[in-house]
Amino acid sequence: MWTVNQMPSLPESWRNAPISRRSLVLGAGAIGAFLAVDLGAVSYANNWIGNRITRQEIIDIFQSISGAHRGFRRNHAKGVAVAGYFDSNGEAMKLSRAAVLRVGRSPVMGRFSLSGGNPFVYDTPGAGRGLGLAIGFPGQRQWRTAMVNLPVFPVNSPDGFIAQLLASKPDPVTGKPDPAAMARLAVDHPETVAAMEIIKQYPPTSGFADSTFRGLNTFYFVSESGTRTPIRWSFTPHQNALTAQKGSANMLFDALVRQLRTGQLRWDLQLVVGEPGDPVDPTLPWPADRKVVNAGVLVLDSVQTEMLGNARDVNFDPLVLPDGIEPSDDPILSTRSAVYAASHRARSGEPKSPSAVQVDGVTR
Ligand code: HEM
Repeated sequence: MWTVNQMPSLPESWRNAPISRRSLVLGAGAIGAFLAVDLGAVSYANNWIGNRITRQEIIDIFQSISGAHRGFRRNHAKGVAVAGYFDSNGEAMKLSRAAVLRVGRSPVMGRFSLSGGNPFVYDTPGAGRGLGLAIGFPGQRQWRTAMVNLPVFPVNSPDGFIAQLLASKPDPVTGKPDPAAMARLAVDHPETVAAMEIIKQYPPTSGFADSTFRGLNTFYFVSESGTRTPIRWSFTPHQNALTAQKGSANMLFDALVRQLRTGQLRWDLQLVVGEPGDPVDPTLPWPADRKVVNAGVLVLDSVQTEMLGNARDVNFDPLVLPDGIEPSDDPILSTRSAVYAASHRARSGEPKSPSAVQVDGVTR
């Protein structure tokens, strides 16, 4: 079993270095270098999701709402790259044989984002916040996950996802979602109405640093002996968030960058252990009394403007899993994998322009 400090290719700047603005950038660059070789790892198979929908239809809907922004993700388009490591305490080893869950340190590349297809959208406190992570070096041991700051997901099928996107699309005349479309969504997708009631009970925190990021979909952790245990995971913050300066288009990202300049940010990996009968449907929460295993701590210590070689070009496909973690049959997971591949494929072939969040330009 390796730890990051045993990897000869990592420069000294990435190991236990004091955090300065320069080391923030150097550190992220080092991590970027090891992932850049992995860009082709995610396969691109057929275009169909279920019987009636293609992944291109979903990509087209994103673009019809947010416009075409060449070179950027079709969803969660606005973001910033981060890096650090995950220190596993070994508590999850009885559940999963995954290498990243053995006692030790794994390198991490990540990306904070806001939901939606507009890479230049103004930060607002209510915008959905995302965190994508690639834990461990590329290959069969790497674990990728993309999480949001919601307690449950508002939809449980590709149809529901499309219906929700279309219903929330602003009417060109009023600038607001069409009330008739919203009413139709409520009739056709009562699970979305119920999930939104739960979501309302979890108002967003003040920033990225104090957000809990949840995987929401159900996975199976597979032990050395082959026992499969349903798991939902989340990363819970150790810190409060620095106050965002209102009036800045990037207020949430700016606060994150300023906070990372002053020290590391930490989140605990919490594994919620499912029991027989617990739903796979991501609109449905599990009972609150489920056992929780604290599997280790995520430490982020560098931040970098999106660029070649860092998280900009990574596909945080939730089906890139190490041996020891397996997907459930939740159709949202296979839909995500197919649509992320389409988005990644499209943006990879397009010219790039500078991201809205320029780390060196953050002064307040
Ligand atoms: C059917 C449901 C979903 C669809 C169609 C969808 C679609 C997308 C697309 C097209 C991207 C951009 C991918 C890329 O270019 O690399 C994306 C990114 C992302 N999605 Fe989803 N998504 C879905 C569900 C979810 C769920 C359930 C979560 C969280 C639990 C989530 C969290 C994220 C995050 C955090 C990112 C940004 C990751 C990064 O920084 O690259 N998505 N999504």
